[in-house]
This record gives sequence, C-alpha cells and structure tokens, in this order.
Amino acid sequence: MAGQKTTNKTYSNYSWRDKSIYQIYPRSFHARLNKDGNGDLLGIIEKLDYLQDLGIDVIYISPIYTSPMKDNGYDVENYLEINPMFGNMQIFKRLVDNIHKRNMLIMMDFIPNHTSNQHAWFRESRASKNNPKRNWYHWHGGKTEGKKPNNWINVFDNTTGSAWTYDKKTEEYYLHSFLKEQPDLNWDNPEVVKEMHSILMLWMDRKVDAFRIDVGLYIIKHPKYPDEPLNPDYIEGQGHPNEIYIHLASKDQPRGFKKLADLGNLVGKRGGFSMQEVYVSAEERAMLYRLSEHGLSAPLDFDLILDTNWNAKEVKKVIFDYYALLKNEDIIPLPLGNHDQKRVATRLGSQEDARLAAMLQMTLDAVPIIFQGEEIGMEDVIIPPNLQHDPFADNLRDPARTPMQWDDSKNAGFTDINAQPWLPVGPHYKKRNVKNQLKDPKSMLTLYKRLLHFRKEKLLPGRPIAVDVKNDNVLAFTRNGNEGLSFLILLNFSKTKETIANDLLPAKSGSLQLSTSLSNKEDETFNFKQFSLGPKEGYIFLL
Ligand code: NOJ
Repeated sequence: MAGQKTTNKTYSNYSWRDKSIYQIYPRSFHARLNKDGNGDLLGIIEKLDYLQDLGIDVIYISPIYTSPMKDNGYDVENYLEINPMFGNMQIFKRLVDNIHKRNMLIMMDFIPNHTSNQHAWFRESRASKNNPKRNWYHWHGGKTEGKKPNNWINVFDNTTGSAWTYDKKTEEYYLHSFLKEQPDLNWDNPEVVKEMHSILMLWMDRKVDAFRIDVGLYIIKHPKYPDEPLNPDYIEGQGHPNEIYIHLASKDQPRGFKKLADLGNLVGKRGGFSMQEVYVSAEERAMLYRLSEHGLSAPLDFDLILDTNWNAKEVKKVIFDYYALLKNEDIIPLPLGNHDQKRVATRLGSQEDARLAAMLQMTLDAVPIIFQGEEIGMEDVIIPPNLQHDPFADNLRDPARTPMQWDDSKNAGFTDINAQPWLPVGPHYKKRNVKNQLKDPKSMLTLYKRLLHFRKEKLLPGRPIAVDVKNDNVLAFTRNGNEGLSFLILLNFSKTKETIANDLLPAKSGSLQLSTSLSNKEDETFNFKQFSLGPKEGYIFLL
C-alpha cells in the first residue's frame, strides 16, 4: 500500500496511536471544481499544505460516494464511485497520491447500515418479493392489516416517525433507522456481509489507509423484531424525541458487536485503522476493544461531547475511569466536535473554553480528531428556515456545517465570489478566518498548531497520571515525554484565578512550554508556590 511505499515503513510498525486526524466535511471545505457552491476534492488538494503545516497526519473525509445527498452522502447510491459533486475517480487518485506524498494518510467514511433508496440493490429488492436482492434489506408485512410491523422509530423524525415505510409495489414495509430514503441493509444475510467486506477491501486496494464506520451497532437487529418498551425517563421536549423508547431491539445487539469487529479486523489485518461510530457505554466500548484482533480498530469516544458536564471534576472522572477500563495500548479516537454536533466554542460557551478543550484534547493519550474549522474557533451559525438543508430534527446540525472560513473576501475564500455557497458563510468570517489567524501569534489557529506539534514532537504515548490538586476547578496530570522529560498539564476550568498548594504537585517549579492564551512568558521558570492559574487558562510545564 501507498503508506509503505512512501515511508519504507511496514504498517505493522506504523504507529496509529500518535497520529492526529482532521475531519473534512467535503461539501463545506473548499470549492475549486466549479461554481456550484459545494466544496470538492480539488479544493481539498489545494489545502493539503495547510493541513500538513498544521501538524495533521490523517485526512478523514466524510462520504464522497455517489449519492442523492438526502443526508449529505450518508445515503450511498454506489459505494464504488465518486460523487460528481466532489470530482471523479481520477481526481480522487490525485488526492490520495498527494496525501501520501506528504507522508499523510487518508481515511474514508464507510456506511454499512444503510444505502440510499436509489442504490441499485434497493431498486432490485423492492421490485418483487422473490427478487434475489429482496433479502438484502428488511421487508415485513404489517402486524395486522394497515399496521406497521412494530413500534420502532427512526432517528431523524421530529415527530417520532416510524422506522417502517410501506411500499405499495409489493405491499410490505421496509426498515429504515434513519430517513425513509436510507433503507437498512440486512447484515444477517451472508451475501450482504460478503459484498460489504469486498467493498472495504477494494478501497484499500485504492490505497485508502483507514475508515470511520458509520453507526456501527445498528447493523444487527433483534431477529424477532419485537416492539421496544417506552422509556420511563423520557420527558417530552427534553432530549431527542427518539429517546421515547428504549432501543433494546433495533440496535446494539450482542451479535452486532461481533459483526462490527469483523469489519475492523479485516482492515486491521492489512495494517489499516478503523474507528467505529458507536453510542454505547464506556463498558461496552471496552468490549469492542477486546474484539479487535490487531489493536487497530477502536470505538470513537464521544464522552466529552455528549455526556459530560464541562467542569474539571467531571471531565477528570470520565477520562480516568475510561483509561481504567482499557488496556494501556488501546488507541482512543477522541473528537471534540463533528458534523453532527454543536461547534465546540458554542457548546462549551466561549472561545476560552474551546482553547482549554484543545489543550486537553492534545495532551491526553488519545488520537485527536479535529473537525474542520475548530482550529479557528468557528461557532454555530443560525440558518434561516429557507436556507436549511438537514433533515434531522430541529435543524440541529446545519449550524456546524457552514463553509470553512479561509479569508475575509466574499464567500470567505470557500468558493468563487460569484458562487452561492450551499449553506451561508458564518457572519464572523471577516475576523475569524485562516488567513488572519495564521498571522496572529496568539490566535486559536496558532494554539492548535503549537499543540499539535508539541504533541507530536514532545509527548510519548502512554497514559497520563492524574495529580490530585485538591481543587475541583483544576484538572492536573503529568505526561512522559521524549528523552526522559516529564510534563505537567494544569487546566483551570473556572472563571476565577486559582491557586494550588505546591506540595501537591510533583515538582516545586516548572518551565512554561505553552499556555492557552499563548502568553509571552514561555520558557520562564515558575515557582509553583507563587503561581496562580488565570481564569479558563491551561498550561503545559516542563518539570
Ligand atoms: C451518522 C453520521 O455522522 C450522520 O451525519 C448521519 O446522518 C447518520 N450517521 C446516518 O448515516
């Protein structure tokens, strides 16, 4: 594979653990192919130098397969072809070569659970009850005349819509965990498994190094399709409407864990890495690690995004409890945001919080995944109803998917000034853009770059050691670095200055390597006795 050719390393000694990943949402990244207002692969190629300079190792691109784009590419029409909106196979190959030439790696999205209803397999499947592809999807008659097969609901529908859609042609319902245009494949059918495995391998033949596996634990359903029980803790108007039922049968089946692990093992056998999008407990994720035969497939860790209040005490508990569940060598893919979530600065409340989060993300023993635009502190953009695209309830996701802000020209350098971007550019782009921030020694972008390079050049893989500073506002831990060096990371989550008794720290003084405000006191040695942590400020000290 290409990584081997360009680096002379074999994949078995190629360390995935010290990589950093950058997520590109291709429709919003950079447009160069034409003036249709959508980002594309040529646009990505032009920005590879920027990403390399930032310190990125792996370019992860959200789906670029042919698709009617009902769910921005997570509705695949053909797994083998490139969506003309983004380019073609030739441009794709150029992209891969350009990534490998820079000693970087490419990760693609793989969507095993569902196809588009325009996929040839589904068109065949719906054609007749005895079509050879019928059993590639989940078809069922109604429970009784005119009644859905069960009470399962789909994830996207605001009004708790059914996961079953009636198809007149054959008078049966088909299952779709997401949109009705995204029918679920039947992974209990060995033909489906075989075909999907061979598609994955084909992309590896095309020199793809890694995969993100979409909604991994949906692939297996309970074989009897029973009704799901109501969730007694559900309060209408709070949380997602989909939480009205406890999903005991429509996903997260034990057999699904194995099926999902098989995908990772297939990729891992060839030295590729895969990360699984699963929303299950830390304990269940730990189970997934144990099914990984090559140590190269790992569940995404969404704990910091979803279930943790942003304070030092809780963050510390969640992180260190998770480490305790895992083996030391387990690789943890750690995003702080993505195309499905609020922007980090919006979610956490301020740019200072986002800076603190970036320092945390880059100093933990984890593989950071940076969603495009987080490195310049992009915030959620309010999208007027007439410009909304996302079918998901309440238009939760468009605000984080707006075009990347490259400069202060019209359309923010995302696309031609005469084009109409598919989603509006955020109002803050004149100030908050890559061009400005590259010049600013204290910008968010400079911080990201410094952190990524610090991580790569100074830190050794290995779990952090928590330091109990007896202050619930401060998260403190140490990390081992190259050449026997030891670093202390201090993160103040509060809005006030904090001090810590210096006898609780592993050293009396330390030399400041980096602070989230990028103060000019770097390399100064501080006596911890006299040191106080600024509000919402993080520090890395060399001990
Ligand atoms: C998870 C993806 O991240 C999301 O964007 C998509 O809508 C669903 N899977 C369905 O494929």
